Formats: sequence, structure tokens, C-alpha cells
Amino acid sequence: MCGIVGYVGPKVDGRALEVVMEGLARLEYRGYDSAGVALIAGDHVLTTKRAGKLANLIGALAQEPPPESSTGIGHTRWATHGGPTDENAHPHAGGEDGKLALIHNGIIENFHGLRSGLIGEGVQFLSETDTEVVAQLLARSYDKVGDLTEAMRQVVADLTGAFTLLAVHADQPGVVVGARRNSPLVVGLGDGETFLGSDVAAFIGYTREALELGQDQIVTITTQGASIINFDGTPAEGKRYHVDWDAAAAEKGGFPNFMAKEIHDQPHAVADTLLGRTDGSGRLVLDELRMDEAELRAVDKIVIIACGTAAYAGMVAKYAIEHWTRIPCEVELAHEFRYRDPVVNERTLVVAISQSGETMDTLMAVKHARKLGARVIAICNTHGSTIPRESDAVLYTHAGPEIAVASTKAFLAQITACYILGLYLAQLRGGTYADEAQAVMKDLYEMPAKIQTVLDDLDRVREIARFMADTRSVLFLGRHVGYPVALEGALKLKELAYIHAEGFAAGELKHGPIALIEAGQPVFVIVPSPSSEHGLHGKVVSNIQEIRARGARTIVIAEEGDEDVVPFADVVIRVPATPPLLAPLVTTVPLQVFACELAAAKGLDVDQPRNLAKSVTVE
Ligand code: G6P
Repeated sequence: MCGIVGYVGPKVDGRALEVVMEGLARLEYRGYDSAGVALIAGDHVLTTKRAGKLANLIGALAQEPPPESSTGIGHTRWATHGGPTDENAHPHAGGEDGKLALIHNGIIENFHGLRSGLIGEGVQFLSETDTEVVAQLLARSYDKVGDLTEAMRQVVADLTGAFTLLAVHADQPGVVVGARRNSPLVVGLGDGETFLGSDVAAFIGYTREALELGQDQIVTITTQGASIINFDGTPAEGKRYHVDWDAAAAEKGGFPNFMAKEIHDQPHAVADTLLGRTDGSGRLVLDELRMDEAELRAVDKIVIIACGTAAYAGMVAKYAIEHWTRIPCEVELAHEFRYRDPVVNERTLVVAISQSGETMDTLMAVKHARKLGARVIAICNTHGSTIPRESDAVLYTHAGPEIAVASTKAFLAQITACYILGLYLAQLRGGTYADEAQAVMKDLYEMPAKIQTVLDDLDRVREIARFMADTRSVLFLGRHVGYPVALEGALKLKELAYIHAEGFAAGELKHGPIALIEAGQPVFVIVPSPSSEHGLHGKVVSNIQEIRARGARTIVIAEEGDEDVVPFADVVIRVPATPPLLAPLVTTVPLQVFACELAAAKGLDVDQPRNLAKSVTVE
């Protein structure tokens, strides 16, 4: 959602436009529907903005090339207040002298009142956005105090909601001022040039040195670096860190799209997430958690909160964590958890899963949980992001940057991190699985190679995806850990191919969904390992027979050597044998590839599906 870039560089270079446009291109993955830039040019600010993709903005800039500039801001907008039009695109001007421009990510909740007040004073608005209200307030404040940082400080005091704001003023060339509350903003420190971005991808082509900001802070960047104050005016320090991936990691590396690349990154993502989690004797060590062991031993309930794909990772985790630790574990969508009265206290461990670390719903749920006394561990893929900062502890996944909107490698890495956490808790608390944790870790270390085996044998999946490009509905069935995999398979297809797709718990089939089965209906079935307990495998094989008997076209994902499924399957997709709880790490992969390939066959934009944003930074 909304990408933000700010840049101040040496006057002689005058390359603000180039840097800002490259930043916007690198932030495209966040999802957007219009884009714009503002550059300081002499005694005024020059703004160009267009609805639609960056190509439209590039076209407009080519028609009227702006003069060289060393200070600029840029924005990709995901519409909230007002449709995706040229007028509503950012930057927005404040005042009438053409000297101030502002960009914004988030929602200003009290903008109606502020807007009415300004209209009463004779201000004319050009857009329907909440942002323009802030631009006008900022211009007025600047006219009074003559300093952009102070003006910003005074304006944010009147705003409620979540926001990242960046502003430039022509009277202060060589300065960009940013403010943040609950929305993402990081600083990039270059050599004689300084950057601001929604995330480090915005400036990764120029520097890997970054500064993490806290909540409710204002940052002022110049060629000398960044200075930070809190909203109350007191000085503050950012946390400096080195980004452990480079620009190449954020590029396609020969694949047709980021999603395909990220699907193929998965063996590495899982291996890197597993790296360094055990000591010489094979015991799990999670130093990174920095949480009191006694406190973790006392936990009597676990609640996992997340959204989208991350929530499905949480569902997989529930099966494993309860089995290994015997601690009751609930999984809840973060936005549902936030607005009810959950039974949570000091002995509850809340696990917040988020690839980006910026999903607003999850962030608000984290705050809610902590207010209720719970301890919160974040499972996150993005250093310097907000959710880990607002949590008591963090376990990072090491999946590398995930650019495609639809999550793939982050999902497998999240599941892996949850397994690690579950095994660690089991080891800490004693009980049956304390001794077996090391054996399960050994099984986990074998998973990257097994994922690679699946990736090496996907021609059949690609073939059926192309063949099914005109399909209008696909169902997915699974049981146990296969159930969240079915949900994830359906989500991927909805997100990417805009096809009606639903995932069901296979046991629920006869309670309703079977009515949807008619001749030719494609149904994916995720079959548990024949080694599963309680006759689970046989139950799913019966489910396949039931739908086949009613005309369904069955596409079955089954373990190597599982011959029971063959008579009832139109297509069998093989995955290597794994311990039943770890199976999602392999069974998910063909479903990701199926959705990606089918969307590509339909000619759709796989990396930036319509209406979606990579990181949903508003509630
Ligand atoms: C958006 C993305 C999904 C992602 C979800 C949660 O909806 O489109 O791919 O799973 O947000 O994101 P997070 O960054 O919190 O894992």
C-alpha cells in the first residue's frame, strides 16, 4: 500500500528525479493505482502526477521534463479517500504559492472536521483526499513558523489516525521532513545523500545503511544525514542497522515475474530460517528471542494473530504447537481479535505473524494484546519494521525480500519459524516432545531438499494450469494441516487469477460443499501422508471417491508411493514423503505454481494483482 520515497542529494548531481523514480519502481510491489513526484525547482515545487501505473507518470515527465533537482519526494498511491484519479494522486500542494508539497500513507481519521474548518476559512480543495487537508494545514503552519520541521510538529498534534507524511518546501531546498505514526518509514544513509522510504527497497540500489524510526517521530533529512525528534519536540535517536540483502535480491533473476522467482527461492528461505537455531549438541537455542524462560514456561495459552497468508501459516502452526507442547493454541484473524474482548492475560503468549511487519490490522491487535497483559512474540521477515518493535520479542524469518504481492516464500518461512518456536517451547517445558525436538529439527533440516524436489518436477502442474485457464471455479480440500494448505491454495488462485476458489476442510464436505460438485468441477485434494495417525489418510481417500462419483475432476497432491489415490485421481501430483506435520512445506508448492501459471496464462499481472496491496497499512 502507498509507497513513499524522499531524497536529498548534492546540488551538483541534481539527480533527485532519477533516485525518486527508481525508488517508486522498487516500491511498485506494494500495490498502487496512481503515482506522482514533487521536486524543488528554484523558488517553487514542481509536481507531476498521474492515475494508473508508473508508465503513465514516466510518459508525463517525458513530455515536460523537469529541471535538475537535488531534493524530491515521490509516491505510489493505493486509493482510500477518493478514487484513483490524477487529482487525487499525491503529492498534494499546500497554500497557493506553489512552494509546498506533501505525500501521505495511511488514513487521517478526523479529516472531515479539519476539512470543514478550512472550507469555512475559504480554502478550496482540488481533490477528495484526506492528504490535501494536511497539506493545507502544513502550509498555514509553515507561514507562521517559517520552518518545515516545526510546522510538521504542530500539524501532527491535530491529526488522529495512522500516517506517514513527507513534505518539501521551496524555501528550504535540501530538506525533506517526514513524520510517522503507526505507518512505515525508514531512513537510508548514503555518502552525502539521504533517503526516506516506506521500506528499504526504496533505496537499496544506493545504500544498505538504514535507520529505524520509532512511533510518533519526525525526521528531517539533509545531505548531512537525519535528525529526529518526538512529536513532543524532544530529541530522539534512530536505531542504525545494515540491510543484509542487496539490490540483486530484489530483482527477478531471470524469472518471468517476482512470484516465480520467490517460489523458487523457497528451499533457501526455509534453510535460512532454520540456520543457527541449534547448538553443537542439537538443542534449540533461540537467543534472539530474549524472553525470560520462566515466563515462557508459565504460558498456559497461545494465541496466533495474523492476516491473509500469514494467518494460514498460523493455522498450520496450531496443529504442530498443540501436538508438541500440549499448550492450547488458538488462531485468529488480527482484525477480529482486535475488536472483541478476548480472554487473554499475563500467561497468554500471543504470536503475531507478519511478513512485512507493517500490516495495520496485526499491529493494532499486537497493541491490544499487550494492553491486556499478554506477552507478544512477532514472527516477521522485515528488519526495522513496526510490529517487531511493538512486540516483546521477535523471531525473524530469513526469507529475503518478498516483492510479489501474493505471499509464497514468506509463508513457508513463517511455518518454519512457528515449528521452531513450538519445538523450543516443548524443549523448555519438558514433556514428551522435549526429547524429540532434536529429531524433528533433523526432519526440518531435510525439508529444503524436499521442496527442491517438488520444484524440479512441476511440468505437469504447469500443463494443467494452462489447460485450465478458462476455468471459472476451483475447489480445494484438505484435512488436518492440509486444511490450511487448501485455504492457501484457494487464496492464491483468487488473488492472482481472479477465479472463484474455495478451500474446505475435507471432513466438512458432506455438510454442504458437496452440493457444489457437478460434472467437470475441478477439485484439488491435499492428501495426508499414509503414515498419518488416526486413519486420516483413508478418510481423505474416501472423500476423493465421494466427489469423483459425482463427476468432479480430481487433482490429487499425494506422497510418493501412495498408490491408494491412483484409481480415483484424474491427475496425481507427487510430493516427497515427510513427517505428517511438516507436509505443508511441500504440498503448498504445487498450488502456488498452479495459481501463478494459470494467472500468467490468462495474461494477468502476476506480481501486482488488481486491487491488492503487498502490505496493508490501513485498517
Ligand atoms: C496482504 C497481502 C498478503 C499477506 C497479508 C498479510 O493481504 O496481499 O499476501 O499475506 O497482507 O501480510 P503480512 O505482511 O502481515 O504478512
